[in-house]
Amino acid sequence: MKATIIDGKAIAGNLRNEIKLAVENLKKQGIVPGLGVVLVGDDPASLSYVTAKEKACEENGIYSREIRKPASLQEKELLGIIQSLNEDPAIHGILVQLPLPKHIREEKIIEAISPEKDVDGFHPASLGRMMTGQDTFLPCTPNGVLQILKSIGASPAGRHVTIVGRSNIVGKPLANMLLAKGEWGDATVTVCHSRTPDLAEYTRRADILIAAVGQAQLITPEMVKPGAVVIDVGVNRVPDSTKKSGFRLVGDVDFHGVQEIAAAITPVPGGVGPLTITMLLYNTVQSAQRVGEQAQ
Ligand code: GUN
Repeated sequence: MKATIIDGKAIAGNLRNEIKLAVENLKKQGIVPGLGVVLVGDDPASLSYVTAKEKACEENGIYSREIRKPASLQEKELLGIIQSLNEDPAIHGILVQLPLPKHIREEKIIEAISPEKDVDGFHPASLGRMMTGQDTFLPCTPNGVLQILKSIGASPAGRHVTIVGRSNIVGKPLANMLLAKGEWGDATVTVCHSRTPDLAEYTRRADILIAAVGQAQLITPEMVKPGAVVIDVGVNRVPDSTKKSGFRLVGDVDFHGVQEIAAAITPVPGGVGPLTITMLLYNTVQSAQRVGEQAQ
């Protein structure tokens, strides 16, 4: 039987309707949620992500302010930009698009963001709170994966989840979220990565398989347990001369092959991507709501 294709756009659309309502309510209190978006350099993938994030803000009534700087920007100048966004009452969330140029220390920049405005959930304080089960901003892509599991009713509780990828942005936080106590946690989690020998040994044991390693079509049908739920977080550009852009996007999963084995699978594009942006909007609105509560 062929897997159900999970429609990330539709799931994101439902959540965005809720977000729009929350934005309208905030506006009645005189608060417009605001996101500061910082892009350094001209990496085309980063530029396309930032553009998509700003467009989503606009469509949902959220103010966004883009700060775009050349790759030659010095770390000190970037710290100054973060400082002014931290102090700006019109800004509820700060997003610094990663990766940054090599001469800028990413961890210094992330640490400079006020945890109250850390809508990416990358600050060590946010990650520490998440890891210990305290209320905080959850990183957007892992939270998007969780929203997909919720919307298809695939609870990880008591199941074996294998995550392929150990990044600070996806693999590591997602493993923690799935280990948390509760209906949408309680999983037994295995984390693999690019240096795991005999990867298939682990992926084949997964009831829920999450690929977030950044290797095009690494996960082939023989690596998947029949009936598994497969979530593909990968976004890889592969050359394609039939496309005007010269490339097409593929995930970390061999979609057509695995579709024959899995129970449900996310496509690339149109799977996790729309949820990542949606959870960023969600965190920004949540941050603005906290400001509204403090004013009362
Ligand atoms: N680069 C890749 N993914 C992300 C993300 O979710 N947030 C930011 N800021 N940069 C990224």
